[in-house]
Amino acid sequence: MKKIVVLTGAGMSAESGISTFRGANGLWDEYPVEQVATPEGYRANPSLVLEFYNTRRRQLLEVEPNEGHKLLAGLESEFDVTVVTQNVDNLHERAGSTKVIHLHGELMKVCSSREPYNEKYIKTLTPDEIEVKVGDLAADGSQLRPFIVWFGEAVPKIEDAIAALAGVDIFIIIGTSLNVYPAAGLLNYVPASVPVYLIDPNEVNVTRQGVTVIRKGASEGMRTLIDGYLSKIK
Ligand code: OAD
Repeated sequence: MKKIVVLTGAGMSAESGISTFRGANGLWDEYPVEQVATPEGYRANPSLVLEFYNTRRRQLLEVEPNEGHKLLAGLESEFDVTVVTQNVDNLHERAGSTKVIHLHGELMKVCSSREPYNEKYIKTLTPDEIEVKVGDLAADGSQLRPFIVWFGEAVPKIEDAIAALAGVDIFIIIGTSLNVYPAAGLLNYVPASVPVYLIDPNEVNVTRQGVTVIRKGASEGMRTLIDGYLSKIK
């Protein structure tokens, strides 16, 4: 089985109704990133930050994976697929993808403020218990915090993403502006001989030569990729 690694960003979930971050009506226009997605913002106003993620969780419960997520999950019948996502939603999993690496954390999880990556204190929220408030504690007695990688924090899962590239045959990029590192740098670890496909309705600045750009949204772009390119590979 050929091995596919896919890097996804907010555009992957746009057709499900989740806002992207940059561009017109992006989330960071409405909520200043310094306030809601940095450790400093969290220290300054924890209840505002907790409420921001409570709102994101409520929204996540109301949306569904789109055709793009589903087509990507369907590739697992013919390829060994690993999805590396910058998204904190769980739409890849809900569409059926089984190997998903979340570089920037997961919205439905909460963790210790003191040791965010200690598995002992990471908890998955259930749909009827998605609100986190100041005073809710992790098992180590610290404030529960969203299991989200904020700006200025380390991205430990990038190591798993790089490891997943070993022996990769095809690399696919979907719906990311490639503005945020280290995620955007993953492409540098893809050997020059490996074909790279990029699906995005807008122009994305990519430094590598020979990338096949499919200028379409995630669902339509996945259809084009499967019918026009992958069906000839296998
Ligand atoms: P951006 O909002 O920066 O980029 C979204 C990309 O999706 C853009 O290139 C759009 O053109 C594209 N797009 C829009 N609609 C689309 C559609 N229907 N189908 C496919 N693509 C579409 O989001 P990211 O690149 O994911 O980090 O942002 C990366 C990180 O920055 C996020 O994970 C988040 C953010 O700040 C943290 O919170 C740490």
